[in-house]
Amino acid sequence: TDAAASFLDGRRLVVMSNRQPYSHEYDGDEVVVNRPAGGLTAALDPVIQTVGGTWVAWGSGEADRVVADDDVVEVPPEDPAYDLRRVWLDEEQVDGYYYGYSNQALWPLSHSDTTRATFSRDDWKCYREVNELFAEAAVEACDDADPVIWFQDYHFGLAPQMARERLGEDAFLMQFWHLPWTGWDVFRACPQAEQLLDGLLANDLLGFHTAAYCQHFLDTVEATTDYDVDRGTRCVRQNDRRTYVRPFRIGIDADAQAAAADTDEAASFWETFADAHGLEDRRVGVGVDRLDYTKGIVERLEALEQFFETRPEWRGEFTFVQKGSESRSRIPAYRKVQERVEAKVADINSRFGTTDWQPIVYTTEMLSGEALAGLYRHADLCLVTSLRDGMNLVAKEFAAAQLDTTGVLVLSELAGASDELGDDAVLIHPSDTPAVADAIERALSMPADERERRMRGLREQVLDADVYEWIASQFRTAERIERPGPEQESA
Ligand code: F6P
Repeated sequence: TDAAASFLDGRRLVVMSNRQPYSHEYDGDEVVVNRPAGGLTAALDPVIQTVGGTWVAWGSGEADRVVADDDVVEVPPEDPAYDLRRVWLDEEQVDGYYYGYSNQALWPLSHSDTTRATFSRDDWKCYREVNELFAEAAVEACDDADPVIWFQDYHFGLAPQMARERLGEDAFLMQFWHLPWTGWDVFRACPQAEQLLDGLLANDLLGFHTAAYCQHFLDTVEATTDYDVDRGTRCVRQNDRRTYVRPFRIGIDADAQAAAADTDEAASFWETFADAHGLEDRRVGVGVDRLDYTKGIVERLEALEQFFETRPEWRGEFTFVQKGSESRSRIPAYRKVQERVEAKVADINSRFGTTDWQPIVYTTEMLSGEALAGLYRHADLCLVTSLRDGMNLVAKEFAAAQLDTTGVLVLSELAGASDELGDDAVLIHPSDTPAVADAIERALSMPADERERRMRGLREQVLDADVYEWIASQFRTAERIERPGPEQESA
């Protein structure tokens, strides 16, 4: 908050994200407000409450339109601290912009999955149109003053340029891209590559999770445009305009996660869950994912199958709990993942299960933050097997909840998190099925002192580099860029 306030220096902050921090739903005839339960919106909300300003987001709650006066509603309702400005989208726009270009073009492309990426002209048109709507909403929120606009993510590849055209050079624009940035030769698969780069290069500061993604972005600019790329200052120059490209690794609210793992709710959830699935006297593994093909859930289940097949001594001794949450189900590739996961779980359970032991417990039930923290706390290992992942916050949530430091993190080397957690996690390549099966055995057989040493290292990292540090470091860098002193070169 201090870093944000110091950089803003009285200017208005406008934050833009696809998902909104507060939504309104009907409970019968009554309108209830849903608060941010976790994730990015929950972490940003207290910061924006302190510095004030406007948050622009897609108004997607059933009752949002009823309570919103002139598109803007003050939040939080009991103690208004900032404006929430909704952008209203019709069905066609949601299909083209969210389900279409964002999630069937940019999402697979950024995860280097060109076989799943489709670049429909109609989706692109919608994406552009919706980016215009968001840019207009941001400009309206500025009240003519020179603002600071902070764009979140890949839904807004064009909005920075559109806002820049309206606001001029004195506005400070910054953006964080929450996905990986793929290699330039993969990005070429996108027919709109140049337009997207121009859109993003209207920012003064552009952030990615890792140094490698920054490098890939600069390579892409160099290969696609004739702008000047200065590798020393990690900056792209087009005439007088400069875009600084920097890594900021996102974290979680680690103290809150640790506190959640220590609640009565976490303990009682675990007790009931362990009792229902016969987990008390068994070793337990956990996987928690949105049902997305990038998470490598089917690949993980194949490794578990191979583990039980080749190590019969672990049958009846180890249970894997997979929690999945439905996501983007209007897209066929996502429905297919859901079906494949269900089929594989059923397969493994019928192959190896006995009357008193089920190898895989699969649930798509909504769990509270405390319940989930209880599950993480009591698990002996966590499997993160993403085929590609910008960061992966499950790895961090697991570590923060491991109050007893007895669990082991098995982590994909293709997740951004492996950059900082690689020394203390057991790293695996998610497509190397026998290696993942070996890693499961290694984690389960690891001596207690090694487990403790590794988990302490992970927790130290996760508690230190939390989401608040992620926010602060972006504003500190923004300040160094805007008010260059002797340190500018290392900004
Ligand atoms: O990882 C990118 C991201 O936008 C996250 O910020 C978010 O948790 C996730 O994807 C969820 O996606 P959606 O908003 O499409 O449900």
